[in-house]
Amino acid sequence: MRFDVLTLFPEMFRGPLDESVLKRARDAGHVSIAVHNIRDWATDRHHTVDDYPYGGGAGMVMKPEPVFAAVEAVQALAEPAARVVLLTPQGRPFKQAIAEELARQPRLLLLCGRYEGFDERVVEHLTDDEISIGDFVLGGGELAAMVIVETVARLLPGVLGSDESLRHESHNPDGLLEYPQYTRPPEFRGWKVPDVLLSGHHAEVEKWRREQALERTRGRRPDLLAGDRDPG
Ligand code: ADE
Repeated sequence: MRFDVLTLFPEMFRGPLDESVLKRARDAGHVSIAVHNIRDWATDRHHTVDDYPYGGGAGMVMKPEPVFAAVEAVQALAEPAARVVLLTPQGRPFKQAIAEELARQPRLLLLCGRYEGFDERVVEHLTDDEISIGDFVLGGGELAAMVIVETVARLLPGVLGSDESLRHESHNPDGLLEYPQYTRPPEFRGWKVPDVLLSGHHAEVEKWRREQALERTRGRRPDLLAGDRDPG
């Protein structure tokens, strides 16, 4: 899968994309991630990418011309055309179901805003989708784009080791929080690992895990059980 990221701060992506799962996935050719600076498509002497809002008010708005030029140029770098996703607190809330939907695309273009946002013509005529990673306001879409790249990339075939993906698929009952995990030692500072986990009774362990996952979900995230789960 190919990701293209458009941002005014390409340097922000350097660390996160070059470590751990994403680094391995890129090295193995499961994903390619290209980061582009929108400012490279500003045509005036000062490389201006923002301007004052019509009608007045605080802050600056990202101008349409460089953003359209950047998206169109980056689209032309590869086939097929990418789904263009704008990162914005006004977007649809990012969920695992949306990550799964995005992971089925051959190509994604993530558009990160700064300032007060984009000229509305960018939103209306250049983007296919708007996504928010939560009900809080970041300084821009960059961290949100990184969250999406990492979440989507680990769903792609071959990206996780077979152990990790097996666990992801079969041990986390759908829509529930994870059960608690323990490793050695069996007693640490007087705190013991639950007996059932040391018992060797596979069926009992499974039952306990299922109960813990349910109890945990009921206590911490009752919304996940109530059926008011957002379909994405
Ligand atoms: N840009 C600023 N805040 C954001 C958020 N919560 N999600 C996605 N993009 C954003």
